[in-house]
Amino acid sequence: MSDNAGQGADSAPNIVIAIDGPAASGKSSTAHWVARRLGYFHLDSGALYRALTAAQLRRQIPPDDWTIAQLLALAPTVTYLPTGKTFMPHIDGVPVEQELRGSEVTQHVSRAARLQRVRQWVNEQVRLAARGRNVVVDGRDMGTVVFPDAALKVFLIADPWERARRRLVQQLGYHPTDTEIAEETDRLVQRDSRDATQSAQASDAVLIDTTYLTQEEQVERIVALARAVTHRPGATSAVDEPPRRT
Ligand code: DC
Repeated sequence: MSDNAGQGADSAPNIVIAIDGPAASGKSSTAHWVARRLGYFHLDSGALYRALTAAQLRRQIPPDDWTIAQLLALAPTVTYLPTGKTFMPHIDGVPVEQELRGSEVTQHVSRAARLQRVRQWVNEQVRLAARGRNVVVDGRDMGTVVFPDAALKVFLIADPWERARRRLVQQLGYHPTDTEIAEETDRLVQRDSRDATQSAQASDAVLIDTTYLTQEEQVERIVALARAVTHRPGATSAVDEPPRRT
């Protein structure tokens, strides 16, 4: 892996941009594009909760019987490794991506995510990945718990109906009916309540309501905020900027 602009050196100052928000608020795709624009690494903390959940689901233990000991015993089989400008969870050394987005993982991941020791493990993986690198990291508690000193904290929100609609367009590839959106809205609101205890807006986060914004506009706003913060005198400047793609 090549770490350019000195970002691989542990001693290098690093910039953290933390993007938090509820399920389907567009955090990960926005974080991905913000990272691309700034030439930073993108870390999706939710993917680690999903990977541990996927590893446990592979063991075919009924979710009601899951224990913290089982999950912690599986943690060493899940590694978080750099792939280009992102970090990808691996299970037993094999990268996992599609499996993490499946409905089974989505349905059960909050069981793992509410366990404090699992959270400590995820937070440690994310901090290690960020060490010495400029990163855009997304999740629920990146600005509050994991990177309280982040250079920029953003909390994304959007109307549940709009979040549901976007999620379905992404998953189905066609425009969903109102009935489909209503059902997905119910599922999202339930997920919001399951995740509520670990999801918080930092008091110094910039709140962005994306209900009426395109993804390009969201990315543009965050990039502008990041530039304002990182170009302050004394701050480390942003690094290599790849050609813009939207
Ligand atoms: O963002 P996501 O849907 O991939 O998150 C998957 C699950 O992990 C969801 O239940 C919320 C939880 N999560 C969390 O509790 N803290 C984070 N930093 C990231 C995700």
